[in-house]
Amino acid sequence: MEENNVIASLKVVLADTYSLYLKTQNYHWNVEGVHFKSLHALFEDQYTELATAVDDIAEMIRALGEKAPGTFADFSNLTTLESADGNAADSQMVQDLAADQDKLQATLKRAHDAAQANDDDIVVDAMIQRMSVHRKNKWMLKSSL
Ligand SMILES: [Fe+2]
Repeated sequence: MEENNVIASLKVVLADTYSLYLKTQNYHWNVEGVHFKSLHALFEDQYTELATAVDDIAEMIRALGEKAPGTFADFSNLTTLESADGNAADSQMVQDLAADQDKLQATLKRAHDAAQANDDDIVVDAMIQRMSVHRKNKWMLKSSL
């Protein structure tokens, strides 16, 4: 497999991570109900971690020699996630974010497999670390329902 497949798959990882960052922040802003305080805080914990992650992923693409996508148009073309619904009920927001953790894990697995086929241990390791974060995020979200 060519290195281009690694970079192409990392661009989808970046778009999905950025999209989840934005959606999680949207829900931090717009969640309502009796669980407001705990969900507002949980969503903040998660979007703060995602903000750091997008920078690392973009810089990994640069280190492999290509420009990183970085416009809303780029991300909406590349992402596998649906946009946020700021009017959703609090439990729907949690379900939506939990389902997106699975989508991220699938996108990360594709990048992991491309990197493994290309003997790129650095990207393999980074994708495993990101999969671990999204598994933990899903647990925390599911436990809030
Ligand atoms: Fe805030």
